[in-house]
Amino acid sequence: MLDDANATPVLTSFGDGFKTLIFGAMGAIGGAFSDAVGQQANAGPLVTTSRSAGSFAASAQHFACDLVDESSIAAVATAVTEMAPFDLVINATGLLHDEAADVHPEKAMRQISADAMARVFGVNAIGPALVMKYFLPLMARDKKAVMAHLSARVWSISDNRLGGWYSYRAAKAAQNMLVRTAAIEFARRAPAAVIVGLHPGTVDSNLSAPFQGSTPREKLFTPAQAAAHLLNVIENLSPADSGGCFAWDGARLDA
Ligand SMILES: NC(=O)c1ccc[n+]([C@@H]2O[C@H](COP(=O)([O-])OP(=O)(O)OC[C@H]3O[C@@H](n4cnc5c(N)ncnc54)[C@H](OP(=O)(O)O)[C@@H]3O)[C@@H](O)[C@H]2O)c1
Repeated sequence: MLDDANATPVLTSFGDGFKTLIFGAMGAIGGAFSDAVGQQANAGPLVTTSRSAGSFAASAQHFACDLVDESSIAAVATAVTEMAPFDLVINATGLLHDEAADVHPEKAMRQISADAMARVFGVNAIGPALVMKYFLPLMARDKKAVMAHLSARVWSISDNRLGGWYSYRAAKAAQNMLVRTAAIEFARRAPAAVIVGLHPGTVDSNLSAPFQGSTPREKLFTPAQAAAHLLNVIENLSPADSGGCFAWDGARLDA
């Protein structure tokens, strides 16, 4: 455990030279994950993706990847196959709102739009399913390996007391079902592997910016804090946790 929960933990559970792949590395939390993993003394190669390949962290290998385009996910898998097996795969992509695509979290059911809902499901549920399809086969099987998809507390059906946000809630719930289903199948081939959803808390980012008003300052994490919290969770995961969804403080979240 950490003395300071906000400090980046030292990752020892993957061993030396561990290989990492981070989807959505130009996002707030994805970028913080990339920085934190890059700081680890025992880190091996770090591969990152974003929708547009641009300049990125000096030592990283960076690829363009759009999670609503299966061919672009497949192309990244082909490009990195020779680097496999990976020890840690983090999917930090996600979609809550997008002005340009007319995607807004619904306050009422009359605001549901089939196109917007399909887009939200594409990024938050179908994309993660495709990441599992193409990248679980590239993960280590004889030692601890973790694939983590950024989730959100609002996925929980039993915890839904406020309503609203139909598409995002439902897509994150679908993501967690896909994680659980893949974890059952993959455990037969890789008993030491762990596939999970992770809730980062409320984090200062473009995604949360329009909705931070009701969040007390002390409960709004920086992306660096969120990455530190979640890497601590990842460090402490064991195969018995596979298929679950965990919050930033390690608490298991129920469906
Ligand atoms: N921030 C919070 O308070 C909070 C709370 C709960 C859960 N989460 C979850 O945490 C994750 C990261 O969110 P964040 O706060 O870091 O938000 P962010 O800064 O907006 O990052 C989201 C990332 O998703 C990527 N993305 C969107 N559509 C994509 C697509 N079609 N293909 C590939 N990438 C796509 C974006 O890529 P571009 O850079 O190309 O736009 C961006 O890198 C999300 O899954 C979110 O649901 C966040």
